[in-house]
Amino acid sequence: MSNPTSRPARKAVIPVAGMGTRFLPATKAVPKELLPVVDRPALQYIVEEAARAGLPEVLMVTGRNKAAIEDFFDRTPELEAALEKKGDAGRLAAVQESTDVAQVHFVRQGEARGLGHAVLQAAAFVGDEPFAVLLGDDLIDARDHLLEQMLAVQAEHGGSVIALLDVGMENIDKYGAVAIDPASSGGDVVAVTGLVEKPPVAEAPSSLAIIGRYVLAPEIFDVLRETAPGRGNEIQLTDALATLVERGEPVHGVVFGGRRYDTGDKLDYLKAVIRLAAERDDLGPSLRGWLREFVTELPAEGASPS
Ligand code: G1P
Repeated sequence: MSNPTSRPARKAVIPVAGMGTRFLPATKAVPKELLPVVDRPALQYIVEEAARAGLPEVLMVTGRNKAAIEDFFDRTPELEAALEKKGDAGRLAAVQESTDVAQVHFVRQGEARGLGHAVLQAAAFVGDEPFAVLLGDDLIDARDHLLEQMLAVQAEHGGSVIALLDVGMENIDKYGAVAIDPASSGGDVVAVTGLVEKPPVAEAPSSLAIIGRYVLAPEIFDVLRETAPGRGNEIQLTDALATLVERGEPVHGVVFGGRRYDTGDKLDYLKAVIRLAAERDDLGPSLRGWLREFVTELPAEGASPS
């Protein structure tokens, strides 16, 4: 059993080896994680979230065609010198912020064998301590403190903690779904009693879906090494967590009630860009004014645009 008083998590793992097929052709040459959400890559929000939660050591599990990600998190002395010479302090700060926010390390996945396999590549980096996994497609609003809460739950109960969202039965087949102990339902921290990756709706244990934040016990690595390919013939993190539950290891869920943007989905990506830009001090006032006008001019659904 994991010891609740074991060291707190300090490291974050971010799998970035996915092919980004939903955003083709944009992602032919640009990794999907670098697509801009307003003016910074989606991935920068994720790294900032990890750093804010007290996890400044970040490992990215990359794959082929992801060299631009390494470039992005590298220093750019020539660019910085040019901005300094021009006296452009604002842009210089923005450029430096993207590299100073965390210590970013990289490991290659080699073959795309699933999320569980990607996480397994982090074993040497993580060692024998709990760690966080953040999936790049899910942006959690900076005003909501999901990861901090998950780390606190892990420190209290030990074991592993996953982020959950009620996505409704009609959407559950796109996610890992969980069964929870009814005695723990109602609050935002629940005891997980079973997990299944992307079940058919009729077989889903509940409408609670895993969203892309995990705080995992290091025991997950031994389980992943023995986990056979599952759904989609890939090694699934969900299956390894199910094994931990079967062995009696604690797995808790934090049911999220805040703002989440799925930047892996085209429509949600557009919504995220508009929402975040509309709330910014620099862009917000003009964008909100334009949006109001734009909306009044929109033809009714079904009518043909002029
Ligand atoms: C992965 C996980 C799934 C989880 C989802 C959250 O699936 O396998 O359990 O619900 O992330 O975004 P993917 O979206 O990579 O297919």
